[in-house]
Amino acid sequence: MKNLHYSLLSLFLFLFLLFSIQIQTQTQEQQQQDTPITRFQRYLQINTAHPNPDYSSAISFLKTQAEAPDLNLQVQTLDFSPNKDKPILLLTWLGSNPSLPSLLFNSHLDSVPAEPSKWSHPPFSAVRSSDGHIYARGAQDDKCIAIQYLEAIRNLKAKHFSPIRTIHVSYVPEEEIGGADGAAKFVESKEFEDLNVGFVLDEGQASPGDEFRVFYADRTPWNVIIKSKGAPGHGSRLYDNSAMENLVKSIEVVSRFRESQFDVVKAGKAAFSEVISVNPVYVKAGIPSPTGFVMNMQPSEAEAGFNVRLPPTADPDFLRRRIAEEWAPETRNMTYQSVSYITILSTFD
Ligand SMILES: *[C@@H]1O[C@H](CO)[C@@H](O)[C@H](O)[C@H]1NC(C)=O
Ligand SMILES: [Zn+2]
Repeated sequence: MKNLHYSLLSLFLFLFLLFSIQIQTQTQEQQQQDTPITRFQRYLQINTAHPNPDYSSAISFLKTQAEAPDLNLQVQTLDFSPNKDKPILLLTWLGSNPSLPSLLFNSHLDSVPAEPSKWSHPPFSAVRSSDGHIYARGAQDDKCIAIQYLEAIRNLKAKHFSPIRTIHVSYVPEEEIGGADGAAKFVESKEFEDLNVGFVLDEGQASPGDEFRVFYADRTPWNVIIKSKGAPGHGSRLYDNSAMENLVKSIEVVSRFRESQFDVVKAGKAAFSEVISVNPVYVKAGIPSPTGFVMNMQPSEAEAGFNVRLPPTADPDFLRRRIAEEWAPETRNMTYQSVSYITILSTFD
């Protein structure tokens, strides 16, 4: 009986200890789980990469953050896309004088794709290594900005700061593919007009140190595709104006242009952001064979793609003329396509 009493007591003690240890580790875990870093990691774990960005999970994560008592922001979801599958999240912190023009802080929800096999950690694991680095697609571009806005507001609210102007935070979709169904339609909307925005901050570049770098201009991206045609022929024949020859001539012209712009930067006469950058991103030609390409045949078509960035000070017509007259001249049977943001830009013109 006494023995049983003791064993029961030790069992209770044991269970009690086990239980309290569990509670303790749970609280520690919870504390670990709710810091700016872990909130950032959770946002990074949402796969918002193109071509299938998970907008709804991203929005629901941000919404939960914004509606929590320590942030307590007004939340609105907008969607201007035809299929209503490209939502915009708009958060509002009302100022003490809402009649003044407001401040808008913007970031985009989507990310560019990743090639998981080339990553040391899966691109949506948001693994934090022992040296403090976090690995995730979209970490710099631009989920860090999205989280910084929320954490800054959280800090300010904790210090009982109250803004004079109303502050809006917007999270927009489709930025990485031109924003046609995102920011472009948002800025044209009645909802945007009603925000009475006086000043906007958008993404810049991540800073490796503790300082914030502020940029006041961004370059316009143009995707330029040039195509050449020419008579096909046997691989052994020497003749003029094959598709490959015509394309190679253009690539040389583009390379010289690239070099001339880069030289200005190298000579210290302009910053990277002040010249037109052009980089070849793909070349497509050849006749596929089961083992690669047919080697004894000169193809009748070839194409190359370039990513071009135009600073706000550059003249778009200057570049359009150059593309038409030198990069892809009709006289060399070349055609071109600017799958560029020109179409979107024209709505801003
Ligand atoms: C352009 O195409 C035409 C018709 O195929 C051909 O006669 C001419 O030689 C080509 N010119 C060049 C520069 O490729
Ligand atoms: Zn970005």
